[in-house]
Amino acid sequence: MVKICCIGAGYVGGPTMAVIALKCPDIQVTVVDISSQRINGWNSDHLPIYEPGLDEVVKKCRGKNLFFSIEVEKHVAEADIVFVSVNTPTKTHGLGAGKAADLTYWESAARMIADVSKSDKIVVEKSTVPVKTAEAIERILTHNRKGTNFTILSNPEFLAEGTAIKDLFNPDRVLIGGRETPAGQKAIKTLRDVYANWVPMEKIICTNLWSAELSKLAANAFLAQRISSVNAMSALCEATGADVSEVSHSIGTDSRIGPKFLNASVGFGGSCFQKDILNLVYICECNGLPEVANYWKQVIKVNDYQKSRFVNRVVSSMFNTVSTKKIAILGFAFKKDTGDTRETPAIDVCKGLLGDKARLSIYDPQVTEDQITKDLSMRKFDKDHPAHLQPPSPTSIKQVSVVWDAYEAVKDAHGVCIMTEWDEFKKLDYQKVYDSMQKPAFVFDGRNVVDVGVLRKIGFIVYSIGKPLDPWLKDMPAVA
Ligand code: NAI
Repeated sequence: MVKICCIGAGYVGGPTMAVIALKCPDIQVTVVDISSQRINGWNSDHLPIYEPGLDEVVKKCRGKNLFFSIEVEKHVAEADIVFVSVNTPTKTHGLGAGKAADLTYWESAARMIADVSKSDKIVVEKSTVPVKTAEAIERILTHNRKGTNFTILSNPEFLAEGTAIKDLFNPDRVLIGGRETPAGQKAIKTLRDVYANWVPMEKIICTNLWSAELSKLAANAFLAQRISSVNAMSALCEATGADVSEVSHSIGTDSRIGPKFLNASVGFGGSCFQKDILNLVYICECNGLPEVANYWKQVIKVNDYQKSRFVNRVVSSMFNTVSTKKIAILGFAFKKDTGDTRETPAIDVCKGLLGDKARLSIYDPQVTEDQITKDLSMRKFDKDHPAHLQPPSPTSIKQVSVVWDAYEAVKDAHGVCIMTEWDEFKKLDYQKVYDSMQKPAFVFDGRNVVDVGVLRKIGFIVYSIGKPLDPWLKDMPAVA
């Protein structure tokens, strides 16, 4: 029986390996992690991450050909194929701080693989890494090996949180990069055969190592660029009276542009887009390409602009101060159908409002109070490190309360900010919301989920990103 071991039981390692186990009953899959809390979670009824459909997949295979363990070295030693799906956060100090990828966790995983291996292995980069990482990893493996051979492959993951299982069942493509040597080509074939159990051959793209590594960074940069492009348009729409939804629809019907990923919002979040673009920027700078670096940097600048523009709209609409006013924050996750809050725009918006001394009442159906407290007290980039290395969170933050019901959050609030497009926020009884709020009652929709016309009829003053402005807001400054 072929044995696969995956180092890193996170948002990528867990779901990806569960689906491989489901689709390949003849392969034994073990997911290992240094965090016993994470592994205990995977072995319990409350999985450590929320993804629609994930519970069913894990339940079907766990204990049969899918295992979760903290015995990292033992399972790596026994495996034929080792996936590495550990954190690759942005460096917070030293050379390249704030941009370059921190490969500490990858390097320590590679050293451990070399140290414990007694048989030849294929080592697969699943984490998103800078171009040419495979070369560095190869060096670590070959200089530390004990008579064994390692072949390295790049197999970046393209799943999106919230739809991970759907994406893994039916991927747009699977990308496998390897060396153009006989050993490299043989390893590509071995991994291709694993995916071929359920992915059509024409969707499995095989390239050289560097193309595979760069394609992942490029894909995330293009996706984020699309969001920043439509968000840049949203500011212009507000200034001119155009409606960003109508503009998106009109341009999306052009088959060269396409309709997906054209929703204006308060900004993109998630663990990957910002980190991967910063990484791309750094690689461009290191390769003497400052113009290319600046081009991609702008995608992040527009994202930051969009978040501060939103905060400014809130404060300026509410008589230029939110001091001591209760603001309800609906949604904290970076998008719906996930509990992940890494780089969620809600963090920057909440911090901006707290900076103006607002009182926040936060509700998200999937994010715990502990998580929100941590997020609002942590420094940028700290979130992307393994949980046990993160600073402990304070027990509470003055001015912030976390509640478990949207109606509780909005009670006596002066304003409501919608930060995540959870379906339940579309279906709220907005008359009931209005009745329970202070007047004038404001709604600031950062995801364009509410029906602006209906809410205005109820009596709300509504700001919805990129939509024609409420007469109330028209004369207010957009940016401080
Ligand atoms: P995560 O933080 O959820 O999981 C990483 C896990 O690796 C943690 O549980 C950590 O404890 C473990 N770990 C770190 N060092 C270890 C070591 N030496 N030995 C054993 N376990 C170790 O991260 P996530 O989101 O799964 O991301 C992993 C990689 O996949 C990153 O490079 C990310 O950029 C990439 N990626 C993430 C996607 C996402 O949607 N989250 C999508 C595609 C790629």
